[in-house]
Amino acid sequence: MILTIGNTKGGVGKSTIACNLAVTAAYNGQSVLLIDADIQASSLAFRATREKNDIQAMAVTTPTLHKDLIKLSSFDVIIVDSGGRDNAVFRSAIMACDTLVIPCLPSQVDFWAASDVIEILKEARVYKDITAFFLLNQVVPNTNLGKEAKEAIKDFNVPLLSTAINSRVAYKNSFGQGMGVIEYSDSKASKEVRSLYGELFGG
Ligand SMILES: Nc1ncnc2c1ncn2[C@@H]1O[C@H](COP(=O)(O)OP(=O)(O)OP(=O)(O)O)[C@@H](O)[C@H]1O
Ligand SMILES: [Mg+2]
Repeated sequence: MILTIGNTKGGVGKSTIACNLAVTAAYNGQSVLLIDADIQASSLAFRATREKNDIQAMAVTTPTLHKDLIKLSSFDVIIVDSGGRDNAVFRSAIMACDTLVIPCLPSQVDFWAASDVIEILKEARVYKDITAFFLLNQVVPNTNLGKEAKEAIKDFNVPLLSTAINSRVAYKNSFGQGMGVIEYSDSKASKEVRSLYGELFGG
């Protein structure tokens, strides 16, 4: 399965989510390839910091992703961390995947920005079946923003994953150490990521 984590908006948690899902897939016995399609190379930096050798990572920052990844199908799971720009590489990362996860922050402004991704998704779907989901990230518990966001995305016709990722320091701190939150000392964050993995991969 090829999973792209994509949003043309920057700073919504694409790299954080891509790396955490890669770690969780590896813990579930899957062979994992993490593709960094962003010239900022956050996922490669994560891999470089990571001590365990359970994830392979490489950069593909050319708009040939949708052609190149097919040839890497010996991996159980390929996770693509897309860059935060609407460009040919981003479109290629969407064309490459079976499933697209669009992380969004729970503010109205972020959801309006998501219309760019939805347009690109529509174009890609002319050529290929792509399953797509929104994912709420950096939710602050007990605020109304999450509810507002859920209302706002109804217009896009793309379902929202029932797992939401809360704002927790564990996501920041573990990333800097090349670890997933499931390896870190925050059981709530760990539970969220396992739940997200289960929704996407059924495991
Ligand atoms: N759930 C979370 N809780 C706390 N901090 C988070 C969470 N998700 C992401 N962050 C932090 O928010 C910032 C942006 O996250 P990240 O780098 O994953 O986003 P991105 O979409 O990959 O950004 P870019 O577009 O720059 O590549 C980082 O500092 C990260 O540690
Ligand atoms: Mg990133």
